[in-house]
Amino acid sequence: MLNQPKTGVSVVGSGSARLSSRLANDDLSRLVETDDEWIASRTGIRSRNLAGAEESLRSLAAEAGRNAIAMAGLAPTDIQLIILATSTPDDLFGTASQVQAELGAVHAAAFDLTAACSGFVFALVTASQFIRTGTYQNILVIGADILSRWVDWSDRRTCVLFGDGAGAVVLQSCDRDRLLGFELCSDGSMNSCLNLSYAPEPQSLIDEVTVQQGTFQPITMNGREVYKFAVSRVPEVIEKALFRASLTAENIDWLLLHQANQRILDAVANRLKVPSERVISNMAQHGNTSAASIPLALDETVRAGKIQPGDIIATSGFGAGLTWGAAIFEWGNAD
Ligand code: UT7
Repeated sequence: MLNQPKTGVSVVGSGSARLSSRLANDDLSRLVETDDEWIASRTGIRSRNLAGAEESLRSLAAEAGRNAIAMAGLAPTDIQLIILATSTPDDLFGTASQVQAELGAVHAAAFDLTAACSGFVFALVTASQFIRTGTYQNILVIGADILSRWVDWSDRRTCVLFGDGAGAVVLQSCDRDRLLGFELCSDGSMNSCLNLSYAPEPQSLIDEVTVQQGTFQPITMNGREVYKFAVSRVPEVIEKALFRASLTAENIDWLLLHQANQRILDAVANRLKVPSERVISNMAQHGNTSAASIPLALDETVRAGKIQPGDIIATSGFGAGLTWGAAIFEWGNAD
C-alpha cells in the first residue's frame, strides 16, 4: 500500500565523544588509599576519562550525536527526536534541547530521560516506540554522563569506579523490525543501595511557610548489594528479552553489558554460556560511565570493524533506581 509508514526499527549509526583528560589507577592512589592492583583485580578498570573544565554534558552529548548522525549518512536536520539519557544534566530542566541546538537538529523535539546506568536501554526502547507507531523515521538516542561532578573523591569505595563519557546511536525506520525483544524493570524498594540524592535544607520564607533549599549529595553505594543484584537480575532479564525475540543465548553474536565491573560481565556471560570473545568490554580504559557505557562500547566495537551488519547484540543496562533492562537487536539494516 502507498504511503504506509515503515514501522520496523533499525540501529544504523553510532558515535562517541573524545574526552580531554585521563586518570589512571596510580593517579587515584594519590587521592585515596588504594592501588592499581586492588582496582584492576576487583573491577577490571585501569583508567578512566574525565570531562575537563571546558567540557559540558551538552558538548560531549552533541559530539557523540554528531558522529552517530554522520555514520548513519544523515544530516542533523533529518533527526525528528533526540532522547538524552543522563543523570548528570547541565541543567535540571533538561539538557537535550541544548544538544538539539548545538547539533542544528532544528526539526527535532528533544527531552532528557533519567534511569541512571539503565538509561541508554530505557531510551532505546522508548525511542523505538515512536518508530513502531509510525510517528518518526530518524531518532537520535544519546547516553551521556559526567559522574565525576558527583563522585566523593575522598571515598575509595566509589571514586575508583566511575568515569565520564558520551555515546549515541541513530534509530531509523525500516521494513523489517530489528529490535527483536526487550524487557525493562524497576525496583524502588532497593533505591537506597545506590544514590545521588537531594538533601533538603528547610528555609523559612515567612512565619508559616518553609521551603527546601538543599543540594544533591555525592554518590553513595552499597557495592556488595548492587553486585548481587546485577549478577542475578541481568542474566534473567536478558533471558526474558531473548524469549520475546524467540531466540536463545546461543544466537547472541555480542553481549554488550553496562560496563560496571569486569567480574559482573564475566559472571553474566558464564551464566548465559556466552564465550568471552563475544563479550564486549572497554572496562579497562573507561570504567563505569553510567548511561554512556553501552553506546560508547558499541561505537568502539563497531568502529574497530568487529560488529557486522546483521549481528545480533544482546544489551543490558542496570543500576540506580534500582533499574535494569535488556534489548536484543540486530546491527544495521542490510538485508
Ligand atoms: O553502575 C552501577 C552499578 N554498580 C555496580 O555494579 C557496582 C557493583 N559492585 C561492585 O562492583 C563491587 O562491589 C565493588 C567493586 C564496588 C567492590 O568490590 P568488593 O569485592 O565487593 O569489595 P568490598 O566492598 O567487599 O570491599 C572489600 C575490602 C574492604 O576492606 P575490608 O572491610 O575487607 O577491610 C574495603 O574497605 O576492600 C576495601 N576497599 C578498597 N581497598 C582498596 C574498598 N574499596 C577499595 C579501594 N582500594 N578502592
